Amino acid sequence: MNSMKSLMRGVSRVTPSLTRAVHSGMRTSSSAASRAKTQERPMTSEEVFAREDRYGAHNYHPLPVALERGEGVHMWDVEGRRYFDFLSAYSAVNQGHCHPKIIAALTAQASRLTLTSRAFYNDILGAYEQYITGLFGYDKVLPMNTGVEGGETACKLARKWAYSVKGIPKYEAKIVFAAGNFWGRTMAAISSSTDPSSYDGFGPFMPGFELVPYNDIPALEKALQDPHVAAFMVEPIQGEAGVVVPDAGYLQKVRELCTKYNVLFIADEVQTGLCRTGRRLAVDHEAVRPDLVILGKALSGGVYPVSAVLCDDEVMLTIKPGEHGSTYGGNPLACRVAIAALEVLEEENLAANAERMGQILRAELNKLPREIVSGVRGKGLLNAIIIKETKDYDAWQVCLRLRDNGLLAKPTHGDIIRLAPPLTINEQEVRECVEIISRTILSF
Ligand SMILES: Cc1ncc(COP(=O)(O)O)c(C=O)c1O
Repeated sequence: MNSMKSLMRGVSRVTPSLTRAVHSGMRTSSSAASRAKTQERPMTSEEVFAREDRYGAHNYHPLPVALERGEGVHMWDVEGRRYFDFLSAYSAVNQGHCHPKIIAALTAQASRLTLTSRAFYNDILGAYEQYITGLFGYDKVLPMNTGVEGGETACKLARKWAYSVKGIPKYEAKIVFAAGNFWGRTMAAISSSTDPSSYDGFGPFMPGFELVPYNDIPALEKALQDPHVAAFMVEPIQGEAGVVVPDAGYLQKVRELCTKYNVLFIADEVQTGLCRTGRRLAVDHEAVRPDLVILGKALSGGVYPVSAVLCDDEVMLTIKPGEHGSTYGGNPLACRVAIAALEVLEEENLAANAERMGQILRAELNKLPREIVSGVRGKGLLNAIIIKETKDYDAWQVCLRLRDNGLLAKPTHGDIIRLAPPLTINEQEVRECVEIISRTILSF
């Protein structure tokens, strides 16, 4: 099997795929296009960068590496160089790249039925709903596509519940967020953001959102005393803010306060969920049950946008037919993929592996020189190192050199580098990666 795979790898190196073009960054006439067909050759990384830069919006600043293939914990660039993936597409690829079981589910369903819309029933949606609600222990699920749509859905549910159950006067409901939160790029998501690169220049903003400092229980209690508060939405660990881990006991106190003030506890587990932090959900570390859980990213193992909100009937049934939805939400392809993605997490015990590998990784990272790596933090395989930047180097340059040494990671918020490999990584690979990271750090 393995020798077959490496044989295939070799073939794909000498037989350029159809996606490879001749020149990047240039318009091609039809004669140029037909010439291109006969002169096809693999694109270089430089050509890939130039073409994206020329034709794509400049809303991202990618690390210069042009990837064409992934398998497990590895990715390969267009020149055939192999890398360890230490970002996992922001924790979407927890199950590893192109997991065979998830790809098999995708391809089997793709040729059978992909999209019906929710105008009709389909034979997979109910099976998925039954499986995911059973796994997480909630009455119902509402399927969407992206993580941010999950967050939007949770906010809409909280407002509906506020008016129809809690009795908050219509359109006076408030949702409280923690400073440093990140839940996506829609108008609502940026309206709760404290990061100017998310919100600056995009106002006016959504009303009814309030902020408290993260990991600050007295401030939260003060905010929740307002009877117009419907919900507190929070990440169990703030991912985009730089893997900010709250004090032990924070989530338990959040649960207590939300119960005390009849406020919904919404856990945004889009990044922390699905075994990433060493438990099925990050809230499981403190054995608390939020009223709503938002999932996304790894719910499809990185092959397709699938997100979901889980909650009980008291909240979920406040939304009536026609009041919320999405053309693609709950489509058969997504549901089949999500079942497979969840099964892989369970069958391969990826929470336990993330817990164990995370302990080894942090223990080793803590041996790095403090003059360069001033801090190491995280849980499971959601980790970060803090780079003590000088005039000679910064986190971006560390990531460029990590890339040169065969490991891909990306700075988040300046001096922080997130280290989040697929949860399928084994001990030998963790040790190999630690060696790459230390060699890179020591080279500065
Ligand atoms: C905690 C959290 N919530 C929500 C989102 C938004 O997910 P998506 O990019 O799929 O909309 C993200 C994305 O990084 C996230 O980290």
